[in-house]
Amino acid sequence: MKTIIEPFRIKSVEPIRMTTREEREKYIEDAYYNLFTLHSDDVLIDLLTDSGTSSMSARQWGAMMQGDESYAGSPSFYRFKQAVDKLMPFKYLIPTHQGRAAESILFTIVADASHSIPNNTHFDTTRANVEAQGAAAIDLVIAEGRDPESNHPFKGNMDIEALEKFITTKGPENIPVCMLTVTNNSGGGQPVSMENIRQTREVCDRYGIPLFIDACRFAENAWFIKQREPGYSDVSVENIVREMFSYADGCTMSAKKDGLANSGGWLAMNNEDWAVECRNRLILTEGFPTYGGLTGRDLDAIAIGLEEVVQEDYLHYRIASTQYVARHIAEAGVPIMQPAGGHAVYIDANRFLPHIPPLQYPGQSLAVELYRHGGIRGCEIGTAMFGLQPDGTEIPARMDLVRLAIPRRTYTQSQMDYVVEVVQEVFEYRDSMRGMKFTRQPKALRHFTGRFGYVD
Ligand code: F0G
Repeated sequence: MKTIIEPFRIKSVEPIRMTTREEREKYIEDAYYNLFTLHSDDVLIDLLTDSGTSSMSARQWGAMMQGDESYAGSPSFYRFKQAVDKLMPFKYLIPTHQGRAAESILFTIVADASHSIPNNTHFDTTRANVEAQGAAAIDLVIAEGRDPESNHPFKGNMDIEALEKFITTKGPENIPVCMLTVTNNSGGGQPVSMENIRQTREVCDRYGIPLFIDACRFAENAWFIKQREPGYSDVSVENIVREMFSYADGCTMSAKKDGLANSGGWLAMNNEDWAVECRNRLILTEGFPTYGGLTGRDLDAIAIGLEEVVQEDYLHYRIASTQYVARHIAEAGVPIMQPAGGHAVYIDANRFLPHIPPLQYPGQSLAVELYRHGGIRGCEIGTAMFGLQPDGTEIPARMDLVRLAIPRRTYTQSQMDYVVEVVQEVFEYRDSMRGMKFTRQPKALRHFTGRFGYVD
C-alpha cells in the first residue's frame, strides 16, 4: 500500500520558532510547570487540543469574504443552516459561539436539581453544565471503554443494559434527556457504532426520553462506522452521518472540531417548546437567533467546513495520521490507549511511569517532560485534572493519561515523526523522571491555573 499523503498542499505558512532545551527549561519553570500557562509561541508542536486549532481551506477563507454581518436574517446564517440541515436535519437550529454555550442553554432549559443525565461519557464542559443546574451527570460507557488495553472496535458505546437499569431505577420522569458523545472524547476519542446509537434510541423510546447527540467529532465517528461496522463499507460518509442523526431528537455541537472552523457551535432539536425557550435564552446570553454570538463570516466558514469534513479523502488521511502516530509510539514499547482514537493519541502515564504514584501526577510529569525535551505540548488527563474532590480530599483518577490531540490539516508527517521521536527518547530515560506536587491550587478546575513543582 502506498503512503497515505496529506490531501492538500500548503498555500500559506505559519512559522514555528525553534527553541533550545535550556530556553524551554526556563519557560516551563516560569510557567510553574503548568502547560496552560506557557506562551504558545514558545511551543514547537502544539497538541494541547484539536479544538479551534485546525487549518482552514482556501475555500473557507474565500467564503469568509462573503460573510454578511447583518444583525438579523443574514444570508450567511442561511448558508450555514443549509449546510447543517444537509447532514443533521433537525427542525430548529440555534447557532452559538462554541459547544459549551449550546450545552449551557440546553441544560438551563431542560434540567433541574431533581434530574440525572446519562451519557456514554460526559466531556468536562458538558458535565459542568449539567452540574451547574444541580443535576447529576452519569457516565455509562461499556466496560471495554474503561480498559486502555481492550481492542473493542467501538469503545465509545453506551452500555445499553446499564442505561435501561439506570432509567428504571431513577424513574424516566427524572431524566429529561439522554446524551451520546461521538466520538467519546473523555474515553479516548473512541467511536460509537450505528447499532449502539440505534439501541440507545430504542431504550429512550421505551421510556419517552429524548436522545441528544454531542456531535463534536461526528465525521470522525462516521468514518469509523464505515471502516469497522458490518454493512457500512459501501455507504457514503454523508449517508452514515444522516443515519446517525436520524436516531436523535437533537444535538449540541462545537464547530471548532468537525466544523473545521476556529470558532462556533450550535444547538439543534425537534421539540418546538424547548426551541422557543432556548432561543429566548440565546438572546440573553449569545445574541440574535440568526448569529448566536458568531460573525457572519464565521457562519460561512462553518458552512464550507461541513462540506469538507465529510470528504472521504480527508477522513482517510485524518484517521490514518492519528493511527500512524499511535502505531509508531506503541512500536517503541510506549503504553498507549488502544486502539487509537480519532483525534488524539493517549499515552498511559501510569504504565509509562510506574515508579510515580498517582497522587504525584505521573501524567503531569510526562506532559512537562515532552515539552522540556522536545517543545511538544500535550495535556494531562488524570489525577491533576480530576483528582480533587468537592470536600478537598484527593482520589487518584481512573486513568492517568497524556493526550496528544492532533489539530486537523495542520501538521505534516515529518512533524509527527518528530513527535514520535521525542516520545521515544523520553521513554528511554523515564526511570529518572520525578513525581510532582501542587504548590498552589484553586478550588475548582485546578489543572488550568494551578502551579506545580517537583517532589523532593
Ligand atoms: N463536547 C465534547 C465532546 C468536547 O470535546 C468539547 C470540547 C465540548 C463538548 C465543548 O466544546 O470547546 O467548543 O465549548 N473539547 C475541547 C477539547 C476543548 O480539547 O477536547 P467547546
